[in-house]
Amino acid sequence: MKINLLLAALICVCADAIAQQQAANRPTVVAGFAVNYAEDSVGTYTLPALLKTSDGKPVTTTKQWTEKRRPELLQLVEQNQFGKMPPRPNDMTFHVFDKGTPAFNGKAIRKQITVYFKKDTSGHKMNLLIYIPAAATKPVPLLLNISFAAYNQIIDDPGLRVGEIWNKEGKKIKADKPTPFGKLNVEQFLDAGIGFATVYYGDIEPDFKDGIQYGIRKTYLKPGQAETATDEWGAIAAWSWGLSRALDYLETDRQVDAKRVALQGASRLGKTVLWAGVRDPRFKMVIASISGEGGAALSRRNYGETIRHISDPSRYLYQFAPNYHSWADKVNSMPIDAHMLVALMAPRPLLLQTGSTDYWSDPKGEFLSVVAAAPVYRLFGETAPAANAAMPVAGDTSLLMNHLGYYMHEGGHTVLPEDWKLFIGYMQKYL
Ligand code: GCU
Repeated sequence: MKINLLLAALICVCADAIAQQQAANRPTVVAGFAVNYAEDSVGTYTLPALLKTSDGKPVTTTKQWTEKRRPELLQLVEQNQFGKMPPRPNDMTFHVFDKGTPAFNGKAIRKQITVYFKKDTSGHKMNLLIYIPAAATKPVPLLLNISFAAYNQIIDDPGLRVGEIWNKEGKKIKADKPTPFGKLNVEQFLDAGIGFATVYYGDIEPDFKDGIQYGIRKTYLKPGQAETATDEWGAIAAWSWGLSRALDYLETDRQVDAKRVALQGASRLGKTVLWAGVRDPRFKMVIASISGEGGAALSRRNYGETIRHISDPSRYLYQFAPNYHSWADKVNSMPIDAHMLVALMAPRPLLLQTGSTDYWSDPKGEFLSVVAAAPVYRLFGETAPAANAAMPVAGDTSLLMNHLGYYMHEGGHTVLPEDWKLFIGYMQKYL
């Protein structure tokens, strides 16, 4: 009996310590606004209807969705959240400066390419790194990742060109130091017969307020225009535009099956890959990690980060179309919500990965978004969680293997080594 009591006390102490530690991952006031983490204070809301056109007609066929409802929604999300972006530039060029060198003890063929967005090759360029499994006898499916670091910092391969990154002071510096973002094991993709490619997001547009003056968006401002218009692209749309430019190159590479390219990114880059996949149907699949607010998490749920927090001019307004901020105080009248962004991927495969202690990003908000978007996947006859699906506990993979898949790892705001293994399984099945 005594031992049991002792054990119970010990469990309490441990649970308490864990709870305290988790509470530390929950900022309580951000940009001057309180943050809610209590389920009983998320508020009540009604999501805008997905399967009903703007003139009130029910959408019951894939034809109606594709021809009428999807274009309507795409425009709404563009106008109110990410902003309009320009088409492919006419004067873009590719410089393949590493044309195919054996890497990883002969397991891979490596290519390095500079994508010049403009005719003037002195600025606005993006480095693209590609590995093709050496054993491949036909064009390979490929994972295109967008990263917070230059590729030479995240991959152990001595043959990589040292890139440039933006430092905290907003200066471009040589990427010759280790990064806090960790290394990526590329061989696991090659072993599965999947090619791997990556770009550094800062090559497209720097990730700080006023970064537009150094980024690709600046080159599209009209003479005399100092800022983007209220419905024009923010940095997330710019990064997603860059991913489409990477795909433009991949389409020219005979060793890649450009019809089977999956996108992956985490956090603000999870939001980026979602928008890239939605905007550019050439992408076959999206794996969006911990995308949270402005990504797959429902904005109407007042839990963790909200539009008010994310779009505050002191924080990340520059990542969105300026219009996004106008919904900060009236989210319930916003014509869109994250379930629409999710549904816009249908019927292509989409996997959302979240983390159980990533409260700020609201993993439950992403789950509810998936459930709300599922009817559109079902309309196409594709698999998605049922309307009455229960939210899976951390580590439970039961909702992962769907055309619209959801998975929550045990842990926080990150992509774990075991998540990559699950992504590979997902790609093997759906790519
Ligand atoms: C901040 C931001 C999030 C974003 C994250 C990230 O926490 O508020 O919306 O996802 O940064 O990119 O890591």
